Amino acid sequence: MLRDGLLAVRELRQGHGTPLVLLHGFPLDSRMWADVVDLMPGEPHVLGIDFPGAGRSPVGADVAERLGTSGDPSIELAADAVAATLRARGIDRAVVAGLSMGGYVALALVERHPELVAGLGLLDTKTTADPDDARANRLRIADQLEAEHRVDAVLGMRTSLLGATSRGARPDLAARLETWIRDQGPLGVAWAQRAMAARPDRSAVLRGFAGPVVVVVGDEDELSPPAGAREMAQLAADTQLVEVPRAGHMTAIESPEPVASALATLLRRA
Ligand code: MLT
Repeated sequence: MLRDGLLAVRELRQGHGTPLVLLHGFPLDSRMWADVVDLMPGEPHVLGIDFPGAGRSPVGADVAERLGTSGDPSIELAADAVAATLRARGIDRAVVAGLSMGGYVALALVERHPELVAGLGLLDTKTTADPDDARANRLRIADQLEAEHRVDAVLGMRTSLLGATSRGARPDLAARLETWIRDQGPLGVAWAQRAMAARPDRSAVLRGFAGPVVVVVGDEDELSPPAGAREMAQLAADTQLVEVPRAGHMTAIESPEPVASALATLLRRA
């Protein structure tokens, strides 16, 4: 684990060629990518980055101070911090893939640092903003996390992130998710909720992206359902759509093999 002074970076695989940067989902960190990376063919260079306040990264206010910007939680700040972290390591161009919240940050990266993004992987995510009720729910949960100083308010996600098949047949996956969620700092989780609540619609950003895109969705994803993924896959010109059978929102841990293969193909296309 290296820090480079900004966000925590996990070197998931030492290889060569255009690096693959993996951005994690909420309320997790870059450990979630291990199975996918193990299954990738060839010798890619793969790294995972923890968002502000997640995993081993500093909290959002500290990251904002380092970047000289306002400390308000935002997906834009997370994207700027990812860009600064990559540049500090001498990486000026990468294939970027994000799952769910990671996808929100990947799209903000395309908008704010387009020269960095050679190809884009959007897994179990969406380009749209939250409807009002979902936004209000996030803010209520953020308040609760901050008041309780515990992550209990999001522990239910250990099962809601999974598809029906995994919920029934893979109790080990819910246990892994619980461990990762319990490892997060409640203030970092609250920061991420507030950042996601504030994010705008970025459909136009994807529409304007000229590089290769892969959209991956679990066919049992209840949080970013396949119908939305199919619509999203129509937005950018050079897009491949991969629907993963018997997986929910956590394709990367529920069914890592097709995800590894989709990302390897994206790397080749880029
Ligand atoms: C995630 O997996 O990152 C979350 O489901 C994102 C969200 O809450 O929108």
